[in-house]
Amino acid sequence: MERKKYAVIVAAGSGARMNSKLPKQFIEIAGKPLLRHTIEKFLAMSSPVEIIVVLSDEYKEYWKDYCRRSDFLPRYTLPTGGFTRFHSVKNALEYVPDGALVAVHDGVRPFVTAEFLEGLFAEADKCGAVAPAVPLVESIRELTADGSVPADRSRFVAVQTPQVFRSEILRKAYAQSYDTSFTDDLTVVQKAGFPVKIVDGLRYNIKITTPDDLRLAEALL
Ligand code: C5P
Repeated sequence: MERKKYAVIVAAGSGARMNSKLPKQFIEIAGKPLLRHTIEKFLAMSSPVEIIVVLSDEYKEYWKDYCRRSDFLPRYTLPTGGFTRFHSVKNALEYVPDGALVAVHDGVRPFVTAEFLEGLFAEADKCGAVAPAVPLVESIRELTADGSVPADRSRFVAVQTPQVFRSEILRKAYAQSYDTSFTDDLTVVQKAGFPVKIVDGLRYNIKITTPDDLRLAEALL
């Protein structure tokens, strides 16, 4: 039987404002909040997906009001964010049953594509756990006490989201107690002893982090 698909969109971060009164996920580009651009990519997939948006309590009413006003996303689950990303995802997993596939994605990565998402879901269905990553393009240096030394960039990749899992694997992994290394789901799942397949990411699936990224996003959208 086909596994039901879920998307956990994490957007309960520290709320970096980037010169705006609002946290970056609510900044409007091309007439829509970044968070909406991101969610629309999941809605554009050829099969249905349940959307779970993780927000801090402070912004839940704002988002609900936006969705009502703009007639966007009539059905979604809205768990409350936790102390760290790990705790936010863990809260969201309460709403995901076993036997499903779940993608965990940053709310501020609007450039993922429906086609790419479909590929990741298909791969996770096959192998259980998948994460996209891109090779580093800059020269890499390691900072030292008195300067810097070159590092071999071919030994590293930059890991992106969404990372997609069979839900029973992700739920088991998130039953672990918190560790400061848990900055993404791949790390949590690997620490629980499950193998994770790394696949080619999308170079332009950037995480809007700085005001420069925002300008780039404006240009691209
Ligand atoms: O802060 P950082 O960029 O590492 O956050 C990564 C992702 O995790 C962001 O999408 C952010 O909104 C989310 N997050 C969260 N809950 C937290 C901290 C971060 O959902 N407590």
